[in-house]
This record gives sequence, structure tokens and C-alpha cells, in this order.
Amino acid sequence: MPTIRRPFRFALIGCGAMGTHALQSAKTDARLDLVACADRDPARRRQVQAIYGFPMVRHWRDLLDREDVDLFYIATPNRTHREIAVEFLRRGRNVLLEKPMAATPSDCAAIMRAWRRRRSFFQLGFECRYSVAYRHLKEFVERGVLGEIRHYHLVYSPGVWFQWLEQKNGWKYSARESGGMVAEKLSHYLDLFCWYTGSRIREVNTYFPGNVIRHFEVMDNFHLNFRADSGAVGEITFFFSRAPLNRMDGTVHGHAASKEGDVFQLSLIGTKAAAYFDLHEMTIAVTDYGYGRGRTFRPRRRLFRDFKKKRFERHTDFNHASHPEILDACARAAAGRPSANDPEDSFHIMKACFAAERSAVLRRAVRVE
Ligand SMILES: NC(=O)c1ccc[n+]([C@@H]2O[C@H](COP(=O)([O-])OP(=O)(O)OC[C@H]3O[C@@H](n4cnc5c(N)ncnc54)[C@H](O)[C@@H]3O)[C@@H](O)[C@H]2O)c1
Repeated sequence: MPTIRRPFRFALIGCGAMGTHALQSAKTDARLDLVACADRDPARRRQVQAIYGFPMVRHWRDLLDREDVDLFYIATPNRTHREIAVEFLRRGRNVLLEKPMAATPSDCAAIMRAWRRRRSFFQLGFECRYSVAYRHLKEFVERGVLGEIRHYHLVYSPGVWFQWLEQKNGWKYSARESGGMVAEKLSHYLDLFCWYTGSRIREVNTYFPGNVIRHFEVMDNFHLNFRADSGAVGEITFFFSRAPLNRMDGTVHGHAASKEGDVFQLSLIGTKAAAYFDLHEMTIAVTDYGYGRGRTFRPRRRLFRDFKKKRFERHTDFNHASHPEILDACARAAAGRPSANDPEDSFHIMKACFAAERSAVLRRAVRVE
């Protein structure tokens, strides 16, 4: 008789917006057994218990010595990551930690010191690497379709009605609590640059003229430039207050959100071909630089993928695939395999994020060591 493998057992610390994805994953996937959840807020604990029925503990410390857990998933605010992650890693426990690693460079360094002592499973939550859209682009890179990546360009605007603007007192507004806008919102996209170029960021330069949204303590609109060891260069133009083309009705969910000012357009330019991805159009195009008769330069559309009609198991699978990430992290941790992304590389990405914040203050390029 074939052996039936037990479900992966994980524990969740922090049951807020991100933690809710994990609650839903555990509720809908029999391969995941959520053995316990912790949240500091008693009202949230009661709510989670009532809606999902998972066992709750009062404090994350109550989970530290649980033997029946393959993976601890930490999804608390950035400022708390250091204290919680260090304790679990010091005990050699397996950790999936939400990005960013922590809110300061020294907190990230403390987490890395704790991890290097025991080298248990440790993965930073760069879930874009599990998403259908970004994996497609990665496949083109790996198959050599694009050649060597020379440019990475992202125009990203979360839109004027984004939830941050509505929750004026949230922790994400505070640079002290969040670690700044680059770490909090753009670390994913610096990670993608490194994933596609196979290289580390060596220099960053942020152009930031001061905020226009007055209640933000973090940067609202800026241009972030960077260069990798491979020679590849990148730029992210980030706008929080781009004017929308259409009526502002306050809904930002779903991929047709561009009428509220949302833009997400990513270009990869390689030595052989260029790829372009528009999140809201849900399309990827690749054009190569062929030559026609007489050596005339004749770029040709090589492929065009439209995902609008494709059915996804979960709506997050396309560009924010937290479910496959949790599943893969659990499987790796349970089997004693290493994380999908090297913690040292993730640490370097965090250094680039903090260097980008420093560059905005210093008004000059900053090296990332
Ligand atoms: N991967 C992504 O795309 C993505 C998206 C959103 C958030 N995040 C990350 O997930 C983390 C959580 O963000 P969020 O948006 O869910 O925040 P949130 O404020 O919605 O939720 C945080 C939860 O943690 C709880 N909490 C706070 N301190 C705690 C502590 N010391 N112990 C236990 N529980 C505690 C809060 O009560 C709250 O329920 C952050 O690191 C954030 O950057 C990642």
C-alpha cells in the first residue's frame, strides 16, 4: 500500500493582511495543517478563532518549543521581525519570514548572525518568484531567449486610492516601523532584478525631491537607479500619487485597477530580445532583434501571452503567489532541504534597499557592500 504522507505542519505568527492569505491557504489545502496561530491583538485572536477555527496562542513565545511544527511563518510588522526571527533561528527552528527581513540594517544583521549559527531552514518571503507572471519571464531568461539582461525597468504606481492612503495611522507610514518605502514595497522588485540578472546590486542612486503627500513619513514618489556586478542596470519609477485616467471609485482590487492610477509595467532588455510585462493588461510580449535581407534591422514579435482568460486556482497565483510559497517552504523545511532563495542573497537585497534610502538623503549614489 502506498504510504500517505502527513500534511505539512506550520504555525503562523501575525494574522493581519498577509497572515490572512496563510489562513485561507490552510483552510483550503489539505496538504497544509495550521497547528497554531499567534497574534498580539486579542480582538484579532478571537476573530481568527471564530472565522477559521485554528488554535490560537496568546504569545509567539508559546510556540518556540513546539515539536510538532515543520515551519514557522512570521507575518508581523517589520519592526518586530528581529526579535521574533532571532529567537526562532537561535533555536534552530525553520522559518519563512515575510519581506523585508527587518526594519533596519542592524536588525537584518542580527537575524543573519542567528541564522548562521544553526543554519536551519530560513527563507525570506519573496513570493513573486512563485508567481506565474514572473516565472514566465524567468523562463525566457533561462532559455536564453532574451540573451544577457542589460536593462530592467519598472514603472510602478499603486494608485491614488491604495489602502495605505485610507489608513492614515498604519505602521507602514512610519519609516521607523516599516524600514522605509524601498524595503517595504520595492524589495520584491530588487529581488526580481537580481533573480533575472543572476547578479548582486553594487550601487544604488535614488532621486527624490521631497514628499507631496504630507502625512507620509516614507518616500511617496521617487526614481531608484541601480547597477549590478554583471553590469546590468535598472530603474524603478515609483509613484504613489499618479493621476488616474478614469473615474476614482475607490476600488483597487483585481487586475483591471489601472483606472485608479495603478500602473505596473516591467521591461527586460537583453542582448537578443526584449520582454515587456503589463500587470493590469495581464500580458507579456517578447520582441527579438532580427535582421532581414540586406542586414536591415527588423525587430520581430516573437511571442505574446495574454493571461486574461486563463483560470488560476487562486487569484493571487498570477503575481503574488503566497500559497505556493508557503507550500514549497513547508515541503523544503520538512525534508531538510535548503530555502529556495539563499538567505545571504536576500540579506544583500535588504542592504540595497537601505542604501537606496540613504542615497535619497545624501543625494548621491551609494555603494552596496
Ligand atoms: N509579500 C507581500 O506581498 C506582502 C504583502 C503585505 C505585507 N507583507 C509583509 O507581511 C508582514 C505583515 O504585514 P501586514 O500587511 O499583514 O500587516 P498587518 O498590520 O495587517 O498585520 C500584522 C499582524 O501582526 C500582529 N502583530 C503585531 N505585532 C505582533 C507581535 N509582536 N506578535 C504577534 N503578532 C503581532 C498584528 O496584531 C496584526 O494582526 C510585513 O512584514 C509586511 O511587509 C508582505
